[in-house]
Amino acid sequence: MNADQLTQLDKEYVWHPYSPLRQFQKILPVVQAKGAIIYTSEHREIIDAISSWWTNLHGHAHPYIATKLYEQALKLEHVIFAGFTHEPAVELATRIITLSGLNHRKVFYSDNGSTAIEVAIKMAIQYWHNQGTPKKTILALEDGYHGDTFGAMSVSARGLFTNPFNDLLFDVKYLPLPDGTNRSIQAFHKICESITDPAAFIYEPLIQGTAGMVMYDATEMNQLLNHIKQKEIILIADEVFTGFYRTGTFLASNQLTTTPDIICLSKGLTAGFMPLGLTTCNDRIAGAFEQEDRSKSFFHGHSYTGNPLSCAVANASLDLLERKETLDLIHQLQLSHQTFTESLQSFSRAHKPRYCGTVAAVDFRPDHEKHDYISNWRDILYEFFITRGVLLRPLGTTIYTVPPYGIEHHQMNRIYEVIYEWFEYNQSRL
Ligand SMILES: Cc1ncc(COP(=O)(O)O)c(C=O)c1O
Repeated sequence: MNADQLTQLDKEYVWHPYSPLRQFQKILPVVQAKGAIIYTSEHREIIDAISSWWTNLHGHAHPYIATKLYEQALKLEHVIFAGFTHEPAVELATRIITLSGLNHRKVFYSDNGSTAIEVAIKMAIQYWHNQGTPKKTILALEDGYHGDTFGAMSVSARGLFTNPFNDLLFDVKYLPLPDGTNRSIQAFHKICESITDPAAFIYEPLIQGTAGMVMYDATEMNQLLNHIKQKEIILIADEVFTGFYRTGTFLASNQLTTTPDIICLSKGLTAGFMPLGLTTCNDRIAGAFEQEDRSKSFFHGHSYTGNPLSCAVANASLDLLERKETLDLIHQLQLSHQTFTESLQSFSRAHKPRYCGTVAAVDFRPDHEKHDYISNWRDILYEFFITRGVLLRPLGTTIYTVPPYGIEHHQMNRIYEVIYEWFEYNQSRL
């Protein structure tokens, strides 16, 4: 199939995520990807500055992971995970529990970030049900994003993504983002006066990704989590984006003082190779399901739960993450992001240049425009960067980069360069 045929058939039959069905944007057929580079059929080379939706940790088509995947496929590609088990799933569960350092007890597998969240919400609600003290109200942070399934949408912010479904979503109480003024703690106590059944609190630790790489006050978050924990409300840390050193530590929760009861992981879990999500929980949660009464079991599962290929690549990714070279690369990225974001401060339209671990972001502040996911600016920015050979997918007017850890120095510099170019082109220096 040549490139024209492919584009034509794609236009006719394929429905792409988060894209208008009437295609406004040119779709690029990809023939290969290696390291941080995506190769298109038009012989273009594009630097993947966002790790293909924040999944890719070690670069595309990493030979070590590819080999492990191939070896596993020749041995066991899939087996029903009820009544059976296998080494890749057991090894992965053991390693995740150890590496996360949270003293958790159990790992439940699913398919992606949204399903990892669904599992967490259902676990939390059923925990209270199994205890004989049903509680149903979920608390969440304002502007959060936790996925596209119904439970995940319910605990996310209401807006453009959820509007057609709002009437069908369950009620959630939202807390403002910790900003150093204690307003989140005050709001929490106020909410507690109005509800009798607080079940769980879900949050993206340290960075709210989809909200626009919002990095918030960790000190107040620690206090807030502490207040919430004191009321025995279950803490669910959504580490789907922040896991696997994105914020500089294995989990973002490792930088907070209060330990969550449940965590959700996906995206970087398989380093972009295979779909997989998982939810871990501590003794407290697991204990409520370990009962003689079989009706208290967790009746949840997916056909591909614990898929051996997905687990094998996740283990291979962990092998790479445990290497000193990888940790050095992560450290280097943090340092270069720091220098880069500091240097952006000289541009008047570069609002809040910031970084956390391997995530760097800046808001473009156009004249008289409010931040809006589908504002024209978003498309203009996307086009500006892609025509210069860099895949940056702004969130509204927030420009950010989350590169694969193995990105080469000159490739990272090229990403910084095009962002500078945007600001130089569009705005006067202070
Ligand atoms: C914090 C967070 N949670 C959950 C999800 C949903 O993950 P998925 O797209 O794999 O369903 C995302 C996706 O961006 C996310 O950023």
